[in-house]
Amino acid sequence: MRKQIESIYLINGGVAGLVGVTCVFPIDLAKTRLQNQQGVQVYKGMLDCLAKTIHSEGYFGCYRGAAVNLTLVTPEKAIKLAANDVFRQKLSKDGRLPLWGEVLAGCGAGTCQVVVTTPMEMLKIQLQDAGRIAAQRTQGPARTATATAPSLVNPASAQQSPPQRPSATGITVQLLKTHGLAGLYRGAGATLMRDVPFSMIYFPLFANLNALGRGSNSDMQGRAPFWQSFVAGCTAGSIAAIAVTPLDVIKTRIQTLQKGEGEDTYKGIIDCTRRIMKREGPSAFLKGATCRALVIAPLFGIAQGVYFLGVGEAALGLLG
Ligand SMILES: *[C@@H]1O[C@H](CO)[C@@H](O)[C@H](O)[C@H]1NC(C)=O
Repeated sequence: MRKQIESIYLINGGVAGLVGVTCVFPIDLAKTRLQNQQGVQVYKGMLDCLAKTIHSEGYFGCYRGAAVNLTLVTPEKAIKLAANDVFRQKLSKDGRLPLWGEVLAGCGAGTCQVVVTTPMEMLKIQLQDAGRIAAQRTQGPARTATATAPSLVNPASAQQSPPQRPSATGITVQLLKTHGLAGLYRGAGATLMRDVPFSMIYFPLFANLNALGRGSNSDMQGRAPFWQSFVAGCTAGSIAAIAVTPLDVIKTRIQTLQKGEGEDTYKGIIDCTRRIMKREGPSAFLKGATCRALVIAPLFGIAQGVYFLGVGEAALGLLG
């Protein structure tokens, strides 16, 4: 029985994750690049970033780093959904869960998830951002510079040997070699500071929005209809995502190892917050907010949809 429930989590989480990543990864890539722009604004916004990325790196350029998500999304989703359900079960009395219980369960789920999320984000960000640094070199200051000014990159030599494209495995090995396990967990504190509040907002909001559809529209098992779960997931996801965007900006900045021309490196969360405030002003903390809502709403809508449709249950039924 237990084993079967675990398999259901795994299949639901896996299917949702794979579909979700395929649908929205390019927007996630644009988010990372927009958040990392400090001085030179190579990209004017999400659409401009996608257009420029496709132009210089091809359609698949928008999927740089997607392999990390495609591989790790299944364990990540499984941990989060399972943890949330376990905490909710443990905290409920006579089948009822008070609001503080919902918040606490979300908090616990967020904490468990960070173990997988941090290394995932770390690798994903390096791969996604590599093209921005390259674009900054060619489209940035070099373009406005006079013809006599020395160029950072010699175009001739750049053509002879195309820039190195590190793989996820390459970056992992490099990080482990130079910084040990801590290298993969850089930004863990910031990730926790983003994901715990996210879950604390998302899970109770989703559960309550979803419950609105029970009553008259529910099916025979008393579950909300699919569209209701989908809308509830999208709404709760985007609200939670936008609310924690400032923490996401800080996290992305801290985790980015390779900085562009004249870009700040940060010692930690406080140092990063101070420097962004001083150099870029408060509006910088909302960079990528639109992208985040557009990434997270469909991801969660799809996840909850698969979960409620019972894809895992159906798959196990077919097998057994
Ligand atoms: C990739 O995984 C990270 C870490 O969980 C997540 O924050 C991000 O939203 C994911 N992106 C996509 C497009 O699935």
